[in-house]
Amino acid sequence: MNTNTNTNTGVGNTRVWQVSGTAPQAGELAEAAALMREGGTIAFPTETVYGLGADARRTEAVERIFGAKGRPSDNPLIVHIADTAQLAELTLPLGAEEAALAERLMARFWPGPLTLVLPVKPGAVSPRVTAGLDTVAVRMPAHPVALQLIAESGCPLAAPSANRSGRPSPTLAAHVRDDLSGRIDGIVDGGAAGVGLESTVVEIAGGDSVRILRPGGVTAEALREVAAHVAYDAVAAPGAGMGEGGTAADAAAAPRSPGMKYAHYAPQGLMQLVKGEPDAVSAYIRAETAAARERGERTGVLAFAEHAARYDADCVLVVGSLAQLETAAHGLYGALREFDARGVQRIWAETCPEHGIGHALMNRLAKAAGHAVVRV
Ligand code: TXA
Ligand code: MG
Repeated sequence: MNTNTNTNTGVGNTRVWQVSGTAPQAGELAEAAALMREGGTIAFPTETVYGLGADARRTEAVERIFGAKGRPSDNPLIVHIADTAQLAELTLPLGAEEAALAERLMARFWPGPLTLVLPVKPGAVSPRVTAGLDTVAVRMPAHPVALQLIAESGCPLAAPSANRSGRPSPTLAAHVRDDLSGRIDGIVDGGAAGVGLESTVVEIAGGDSVRILRPGGVTAEALREVAAHVAYDAVAAPGAGMGEGGTAADAAAAPRSPGMKYAHYAPQGLMQLVKGEPDAVSAYIRAETAAARERGERTGVLAFAEHAARYDADCVLVVGSLAQLETAAHGLYGALREFDARGVQRIWAETCPEHGIGHALMNRLAKAAGHAVVRV
């Protein structure tokens, strides 16, 4: 049966629906929602990155996510909900103080880029979602397409980022297509994702404390407005894997969020981060790119807008503005993919201070570089 419609420009067996990213029309998501109910795997936009969703309760559907991505089976998935009423079906009640904190976190940050790790209700989701842990990670995305798809399908959706494992997370439907066409049932194309980096993952660490397991769009500063104490898992602390405060060894220690141990987000070229005073950083990168070019290597620089004119590598990409780090969060993964598209073999990247969204940005950049950091 050929079910092509004029909004369907799919490749292979992967259907594509073009929808409005701000106000999806009634019925636009009906086919995708129906496929989801039947156990399909569908990519959709969220306010962080594109996710690859399936009904979290159906093991065979969840297994297809792992298969399509080539994801290690010990890495659990985030479950996406559209209504806090769904929480009671997925999680066990917390103690009074923890419950009060969870309520405040949800009231302040949901819908939005905050994932809460909570005790899982036995049997509520496929054991493949939790990878055998006694907790489940849950978030309510702040994206009209994601919310409508979850609501219309009636399923809690397990959804990791919609990239092949090891590749940068997708911030455009085109990135999903590049990685997963022919491997999943559909892609809902609602335009560019929002923040550009994945959600902040936190657990409630007793009483009025949260522990950040993965830094993301909700910053430690924002969490401190709601929780009395904000701690970090070693791999998620500022400086972890950046040769400062933390070390590459910290980044290799067993993290409480299993996904943090995997090499991630990596472009195909060899990348190094360069830390130091801006003039020293530029001088170092210019000398390194010149030497690499002598050796016949195709060179790339990932620079902030304020400094891009300083470089003459084969491919100089602006990640965003230092004065507005949100723009850099938005641009990072697309830039990493662009280096690949241009066949760049060696990449040097500028760094920024690790506060606000700069913390998550440097966390992802350090992972993309395999923790290769030089201080000049
Ligand atoms: O912004 C996001 O979070 C995106 C969008 C699609 O929602 N999703 C995403 O999923 O980044 P993924 O699978 O790429 O990352 C999920 C992270 C992993 O580091 C995983 O180990 C962690 O969440 N995680 C999931 N369940 C967990 C649990 N029960 N305890 C601790 N960490 C958990
Ligand atoms: Mg991911």
